[in-house]
Formats: sequence, C-alpha cells, structure tokens
Amino acid sequence: MPPSFTLVDHPLIQHKLTILRRTDTATAQFRQVLREIAFVLGCEATKDLALGEVEIETPLERGNFPYLEGKKLCFVSILRAGNGLIDGLLDLVPSARVGHIGIYRDPETLQAVEYYFKTPDALEERQVIMVDPMLATANTAISAAHRLKEKGARNLKFMCLLAAPEGVEAFSAAHSDIPIIAAALDRELNDHGYILPGLGDAGDRMYGTKG
Ligand code: URA
Repeated sequence: MPPSFTLVDHPLIQHKLTILRRTDTATAQFRQVLREIAFVLGCEATKDLALGEVEIETPLERGNFPYLEGKKLCFVSILRAGNGLIDGLLDLVPSARVGHIGIYRDPETLQAVEYYFKTPDALEERQVIMVDPMLATANTAISAAHRLKEKGARNLKFMCLLAAPEGVEAFSAAHSDIPIIAAALDRELNDHGYILPGLGDAGDRMYGTKG
C-alpha cells in the first residue's frame, strides 16, 4: 500500500463495519452505525489539525490551554453515499463547512460527468476532507479531487469506509499528495466495480432504495 494510505483498524470500527456488511442489517441501523464510524474515522482524519493556545480561567486558576487554530475544516460529500458520513463528521466538528459534488460515469463514453458542484469559498485556506464510503474504481474520487484542486483546494484528504486495492492504487497514482483514510482494505473489485466482500451498494443500503 502507498504511504498515503492509513487503515484505522480500531476494534470498535471493525465491529461496527461487520454490522454494516451484514445483509440483514436494517436501513435505520445502517445509517446510525455509519454515523458512529464516521465520527471515529473523523478523529483520525483530523489528527494533525494545528493547535494554538488560549488563556482561560478554570474554576481554580488561570492558564494557557490548547485551542484549535489555523486552517478551517471543510467536509465534501461525494453524492450520494458520501452524505451518510457527513452527520458523524458534523457531530465531531459542528462548525465545519460542507460541500457537495455530484459526478456520474457516462455509460457510453465512460467519461466522468459532473452534475452538481457546491463548496464553500476560500478552499485554499481550508483543510478539505472528501468523503465517500466506498473507494472502488476511484473514478469519481479522482475527478472530485481534480475539481477541488481547480477550485483552489491545496490541503486535501480522502476518507472512506471500504477501499479496494485497485481503487487505492488508481487514486494514489492520480493524487499522490492526498492521504487516504479507510476503515478496511477489502479483497478486490468484481466485474461490475463492486467491492468484495464489501457491503453492497452503500447508497441503497443507507436509503433503502434497492429494487
Ligand atoms: N459503490 C458502492 O456503493 N459499493 C461498492 O461495492 C462499490 C461502489
């Protein structure tokens, strides 16, 4: 795996991931557990935020204590499944800004087609964390990262639940400067671009839209 790849294999995350993988997990529980995992993964994705100091008074004395400073956070959801990770991240950092990117792959031309792009301004001043539960072929994540860079983002990370080795390789080849944070590295992609063993279609699982 490239040095930019971080696996967060905390026992609680692995346990919760098994709940998501189970085919009999209901939609409501799927969403709740996804939110919980996003919170913990978000701790890893934000672990290098710059800290300054602030002078405060505790009930007993005055002193200097750590306080976040510097880059402001922006989470960017790659639609639609990325939305499932946003609530957990906002539980962690309620003041963060949120962007959305919609990209699909044209079945005829196989080109990435953007249908929605909305982000906060001044991306160059922000730590931008792109989120999508599944890093499969990486085509949409690669396009989304290109667009965010075009809009000025300089400090980017990519956070997902499951990554396929093929997706990690393709994403790192296209954006070696963007660290990837994942909860699991699965075995492979199938012929339809689904991750094995995986959890199925993340959007369908979280919104109950299958069939
Ligand atoms: N997207 C999904 O939702 N699931 C996969 O397995 C691959 C891509």
